[in-house]
Parts: sequence; structure tokens; C-alpha cells
Amino acid sequence: MAIERTFSIIKPDATRRNLTGKINTLFEENGLSIIAQKRIQMSRAHAESFYGVHAARPFFKDLVEFMVSGPVVVQVLEGENAVAKNRDLMGATNPANAAEGTIRKLFAESIEANSVHGSDSAENAAIEIAYFFAGLELVG
Ligand code: CMP
Repeated sequence: MAIERTFSIIKPDATRRNLTGKINTLFEENGLSIIAQKRIQMSRAHAESFYGVHAARPFFKDLVEFMVSGPVVVQVLEGENAVAKNRDLMGATNPANAAEGTIRKLFAESIEANSVHGSDSAENAAIEIAYFFAGLELVG
């Protein structure tokens, strides 16, 4: 299986509850290495642009408000099959549907405040990584 990179965000509900370390431990225990990471305050324009694909959805405005409501930790995770592995580890978008042991089952508060974001494909991972990181910041 190929070594891949995926983009991850630890969202404001999780940074607010000091869960960054616990979530990072789950990544590392499951074969995902954190090869880039920074804690930032997203601007409204940044959040609107990042989630632009959802602009027509009814939850878009609330989603942007939530993502700028506090700091986030943006990350690049590397490992075998990293995109699918991270999606399995995160669990379903809605924590009510997330499997036992997944990050969202363990920590998410709601479908909006769902603690983590992860890329849904290798193509989108490359786009999302480039949106937040310069090449020199990725240290594999
Ligand atoms: P994420 O993987 O970051 O991608 C889009 C986000 O929109 C999603 O996680 C959820 O946090 C958020 N969201 C809020 N409401 C909904 C909804 N009804 N359906 C899907 N996603 C939602």
C-alpha cells in the first residue's frame, strides 16, 4: 500500500477542551505521523474559501461561524493509506452515527462541532495542504 499524505484540522470545539494531545495520540497510535502542524485562528474569508464547496448548503453560514469561533490546529498526516485511514479513525460526520473508538464518537459534540476534519481524497488532500502549508513546512 502507498504512503500518502492527508490534511487534518482539529476544530475549535476540540482546542477549546484541550483535546489536541489526545487526538494527536490517536493519530500516532494508528500509524499516522504528524509531519506538519500549526495552531492558527482562521479568518472568516479563509474559512469561507476553504469550505467553498459547501457554500450553497443550509449549514454553511453556521459552519463558518463555528470554524472562526476559536483556534484550530491544521496538520499534515503521513502514513500508509493515510486518507482512508484517517477517515476511518475520525468516524462518521455525525457523531451519533460514528463507530465506537473513533475520534468523533469519543469527542465530538454535534454534526457541526465534530472535533476534526480530514480530506476525502488524495486529490483534495493535496489542494487542502497547499492551502495552509508551504512545501518547506512539511517534514516527513
Ligand atoms: P467536515 O469534514 O469538516 O466538512 C464539512 C463540515 O460541515 C462537516 O465536517 C461538518 O462539521 C459540517 N456540517 C454541519 N452541518 C452539517 C450537515 N448537516 N451535514 C454535513 N456536514 C455538516
